[in-house]
Amino acid sequence: MKKIICDNYEESCRAAADIFTEQLRQKPESVLGLSTGSTPIGLYAQLVSRYNEGKIDFSRATAFNLDEYYPIKQNHAQSYKTFMEEYLFSKVNFAQTHIPNGEASDVEAECTRFDAELEAAGGVDLQLLGIGTNGHIGFNEPAVTYPLGSSLAHLSEDSLKSNARFFTKGETQPTTALTMGVGQIFAAKHILMLISGTNKTEITKKLFEGKLHTDVPACFLLLHPNVTFVMDKAAAGV
Ligand code: F6R
Repeated sequence: MKKIICDNYEESCRAAADIFTEQLRQKPESVLGLSTGSTPIGLYAQLVSRYNEGKIDFSRATAFNLDEYYPIKQNHAQSYKTFMEEYLFSKVNFAQTHIPNGEASDVEAECTRFDAELEAAGGVDLQLLGIGTNGHIGFNEPAVTYPLGSSLAHLSEDSLKSNARFFTKGETQPTTALTMGVGQIFAAKHILMLISGTNKTEITKKLFEGKLHTDVPACFLLLHPNVTFVMDKAAAGV
């Protein structure tokens, strides 16, 4: 386990972008697992500017996103598909991108399709993760059991509250989402968790307390053979 504590958010995004840059330098055809939310925005901006400067190339890389609200129109302003197009996919040159389809009529078939595509791609080389204030990864919320493969997740009260900020009044906020399972996340060759801000201090403290809290899904990462936590001082509480 590697822990990198940066002075501020921008520095942490730069450190995370360095890891992506090195990954693609070593293996241009990498499969990158990506996340959405507030945390990766600065990282994606870094990747876009490095791409524009010719320092990183995604032309042989494949992206798999962790999750998508369900149900949601792909072109909805708050869909993760729209988010990824806006912050990354429309600005760089990925060979292929994959996101669970929030419009699929059959949830089970969609999960099977997504899992088959991920398996055919050979699994994830570098998986980017954020952390929920309750410790969720993807939309794997604190629970007694955790799905290994993709599934339909019911968002916790905590996640609904956290994400309500993105939905305008009168707009229906989805209460369920399609998410990669804990098994698929854990199967990534390298996991990079980016943590930022004072709203994450408490969960970060719990994560690094030296105990495996089974109600904090992110704690499973502590057992992964190749995980890097990049955080700013605000999240680290130092
Ligand atoms: C998003 C995702 C979530 C977020 C987490 C943190 O694709 O999988 O687990 O990473 O909710 O979100 P932010 O960065 O908005 O605090």
